[in-house]
Amino acid sequence: MTVNTISSDMHHSQGAYFDVQRIRQDFPILTQRVNRQPLVYLDNAATSQKPRHVIEAITRYYELDNANIHRGVHSLSQRATDDYESARETVRRFLGAAESREIIFVRGATEAINLVAQAYGRANVAAGDEVLITTLEHHSNIVPWQVLCEEKGAKLKVVPVADSGELQLEAMDVLITPRTKLLAVAHVSNALGTINPLREIIELAHARGVPVLLDGAQAVPHLAVDVSALDCDFYVFSGHKIYGPTGIGVLYGKSALLDAMPPYQSGGDMIRSVTFQKTTYNVLPHKFEAGTPNISGVVGLRAAIEYVERLGLANIAGHEHELLIYATHEISALPGIRLIGTAKEKAAVLSFVMEGIHPHDIGTILDQQGIAIRTGHHCAQPLMERFGVPATARASFGLYNTRQEVERLVEGLRKVREGFA
Ligand SMILES: Cc1ncc(COP(=O)(O)O)c(C=O)c1O
Repeated sequence: MTVNTISSDMHHSQGAYFDVQRIRQDFPILTQRVNRQPLVYLDNAATSQKPRHVIEAITRYYELDNANIHRGVHSLSQRATDDYESARETVRRFLGAAESREIIFVRGATEAINLVAQAYGRANVAAGDEVLITTLEHHSNIVPWQVLCEEKGAKLKVVPVADSGELQLEAMDVLITPRTKLLAVAHVSNALGTINPLREIIELAHARGVPVLLDGAQAVPHLAVDVSALDCDFYVFSGHKIYGPTGIGVLYGKSALLDAMPPYQSGGDMIRSVTFQKTTYNVLPHKFEAGTPNISGVVGLRAAIEYVERLGLANIAGHEHELLIYATHEISALPGIRLIGTAKEKAAVLSFVMEGIHPHDIGTILDQQGIAIRTGHHCAQPLMERFGVPATARASFGLYNTRQEVERLVEGLRKVREGFA
């Protein structure tokens, strides 16, 4: 390979070539045409596409190993249990957690947050207490806290966001009071791409004795995460945004906190013993995994984590950062464009509005050209209100996107503008 052949889609980072054309071959869905054009998939923040490695792991599980876990002495059940529990260890390592019993498998980030809101909240939040969130949260990190606060007579407080899309931390300092029972904050904003300064935030909260839940749904596909180094109390993410299957996600919690929490759901597997008089609960992590879990989803999630680890999160981050910089430069140069979210630290998300054109029209015209972006409020209505827009158009990048695809997007946006001229 000569230097000339190394494009920005095949760059040298951390000692490895990130060959995006080669990587794209792992994703069967990307080879198709949509509306007679090669598909340009830029809706990765909503969900990501799946590499063959993940699809085959799920197929292999159903073809060879399928059985219910934890309860069987027969070989298939033991193999399925081993697959499931070794995936827990993979997730533990991936997140840098101290113990695998701190990893709870759930349906996704939404269920993980509901679990903490209900189980931790039920035990620790009382009338007059406060829960602190921020303006840039996804609805799934707003509504569960709102429901809890309504139930308990507690108060939901909100850290404001600056015009750049960065949190106003000086306000956070004031908003944390002796009644604050938890701070819940996104690691990366799904609507703006802002990467929040977690170390500072966690230090601030912990100095006041407030535990911190991090919503990592938009972070784990793009950034290496180490929950031990961060010292966060809870961390949640969804499998489907990190190239894994839908219907599987993870709650990490410090064992001391999880141990002290009551169960979330009850039924099989989460018990130690049951009589009609009294039930005692299982140990972690099983206490929080009632019923037959999504075993094939766990197998697929493990394959997805192995896949991104093999490529290297630093390489992925480097590649996506180049795409984001290039797209930001090109799109902000188009007439009538306003970028929503211009934080210094951003990951993989470009949100914008076009003067005089509704985002849904942008999305529809781009779709006619085979380009998939998301338009709408991105499940962040309070944030849209903060920026004075009902909706934005959002292009979000994944590890398989290319510079040529950004060029197609820019060209597509020119056509949108021409269509409305
Ligand atoms: C920041 C953030 N948090 C939470 C969620 C909810 O994830 P899920 O729908 O997979 O539970 C999303 C999904 O878009 C998100 O972007």
